[in-house]
Amino acid sequence: MTLRPPSPLLAPSLLSADFTRLGEELRFLEDSGAQVAHVDVMDGRFVPNITIGLPVVEALRKATALPLDCHLMIVEPLRYAADFVKAGADWVSIHQEADPHLHRTLAAIRQAGGKAGVVLNPATPVDTLVDLVGDFDFVLLMSVNPGFGGQSFIPRVLDKVRRLNALRAERGIPFFIEVDGGVGMKNAAELIRAGADCLVAGNAVFKAENPKAAVAGLLSEMAAGR
Ligand code: DX5
Ligand code: ZN
Repeated sequence: MTLRPPSPLLAPSLLSADFTRLGEELRFLEDSGAQVAHVDVMDGRFVPNITIGLPVVEALRKATALPLDCHLMIVEPLRYAADFVKAGADWVSIHQEADPHLHRTLAAIRQAGGKAGVVLNPATPVDTLVDLVGDFDFVLLMSVNPGFGGQSFIPRVLDKVRRLNALRAERGIPFFIEVDGGVGMKNAAELIRAGADCLVAGNAVFKAENPKAAVAGLLSEMAAGR
């Protein structure tokens, strides 16, 4: 049984893109070699920021064939999770801290046809997922406190990646490990080495002087970490 996808995936976060040109930014991602588009949905309640919602995801879906990875930073995610799949999201992740009924919400995402993920804030232990293994397709580990792009990477997440990697090997049940926040050239290889399969990068891609070279640089660091 394969526990990891064949090669690591880069998911640039559209939160750092130019919102007046989202269609072009998606075309840039397709050309750059990035494999996934990360979409940060914030409600101003779970996190102190409001970003984008269902109509924008529907528009993104029409503009690209890249998988859309919708990271829901919202309270009561059961109310909207399946709607994001219907709007065109391929992966939908919900925060452990936002939902007392994770099992139910993950099942709703899968039933709607999406890949279901659980997100852990920096302060939330990996152990909170031991009784859910098999019920999610991926885990998204936050390496910053969610809410904003451009924050500093919290290195302690590396140990959480290692522990999750050990957990999936021990159980023999495959799931992806994704890491989000402050990811860049300095930590990409180390994260992949620790067991991460997918890295989100916002500022490191879209605020780079040369975004295309930034994607190429990150992908090559990630390949070196394998
Ligand atoms: C933070 C978001 C991240 C963010 C990443 O709440 O979940 O996806 O956009 O941006 P960078 O890579 O700039 O930290
Ligand atoms: Zn995110």
